[in-house]
Amino acid sequence: MKYYLVFLYIFTASFLFNLTISKQQENLFDQSKRLTHAIIHGEVHGNGTLPIEDKNSYLLVELRLSRDDRPRSIARNKIKFNNNNNNNNNITTQSFTLQFKLKYPLSKISPHNSYILSAKILNNQNKLIYIGDLHVPITERKNEQAKYLVINVIKTPSWYNNIDKLSLLAYKVTQWGGTEEAFTSELYTNKKSGIYTCVVCNSTLFSSKHKYNSGTGWPSFYQVAIEGNVATNIDRKYGMTRTEVHCAKCKAHLGHVFDDGPQPTYMRYCINGVALQFYSDENEMK
Ligand SMILES: *[C@@H]1O[C@H](CO)[C@@H](O)[C@H](O)[C@H]1NC(C)=O
Ligand SMILES: *[C@@H]1O[C@H](CO)[C@@H](O)[C@H](O)[C@H]1NC(C)=O
Ligand SMILES: *[C@@H]1O[C@H](CO)[C@@H](O)[C@H](O)[C@H]1NC(C)=O
Ligand SMILES: [Zn+2]
Repeated sequence: MKYYLVFLYIFTASFLFNLTISKQQENLFDQSKRLTHAIIHGEVHGNGTLPIEDKNSYLLVELRLSRDDRPRSIARNKIKFNNNNNNNNNITTQSFTLQFKLKYPLSKISPHNSYILSAKILNNQNKLIYIGDLHVPITERKNEQAKYLVINVIKTPSWYNNIDKLSLLAYKVTQWGGTEEAFTSELYTNKKSGIYTCVVCNSTLFSSKHKYNSGTGWPSFYQVAIEGNVATNIDRKYGMTRTEVHCAKCKAHLGHVFDDGPQPTYMRYCINGVALQFYSDENEMK
């Protein structure tokens, strides 16, 4: 299971929405016959129910090519609604299809990466209502056959809009598994009593009670604050096998865990400071 499958399985949707994509029907080669670009032909299908206040919603398809890429818009369409069908405060969409065609350079995608297609529904205030992300592993770049993938779009969780407010570094770290430079986080030397929450969804992750000076340059803890709030995956990037640590609620990447920590757990949660927010106990006592 890929860690990148960030938003697919958390909430259930009352709105069924399929993204069907046919990929790489055309590959483009340079003069020395190296593959340089691919053209994706895509199609998004959907129908469903939205609250009546979101009558002016539109569908947007976006692409990210690499870890550092902010989403780029590749297709956009207003959603049409059926007449005379509003019951309660809901309104039913017509079944819709959005087609797109996109040429993208393969050179910009790193070998450890996947590119990502997202389908989003936004209302007329540009507030995100639904999202589905499709992560296409890079190995499929070799596949020249047309292929169809279907995903369901999930109801957007409340914290999703916080992702856009992150600093670029926090974005790279939490959304793309990046790492801040050692000794750059103020939280590394923070000795105050309090809790550390997720910078994206504010879930409680670590406590000052379990923090220690590891000498590594990253905030380090020998255990998590609340069991179940922190989850792990095996990470085989850069030719190493490490245990990746992420927020169980929003899947934000936090850091890695190693088994060279202090007593009593012998664990070392090596965490990026930009992935955390610190809440001091002192504020509460005032
Ligand atoms: C329709 O609206 C009601 C509230 O008025 C809500 O409980 C229900 O889930 C909605 N149905 C759908 C299919 O979205
Ligand atoms: C709308 O979606 C439902 C599934 O929720 C599906 O059964 C139906 O065929 C769709 N209608 C159209 C016109 O696509
Ligand atoms: C985040 O969590 C902390 C600690 O539980 C809480 O004090 C704070 O109000 C929360 N912040 C937001 C914006 O919810
Ligand atoms: Zn989180």
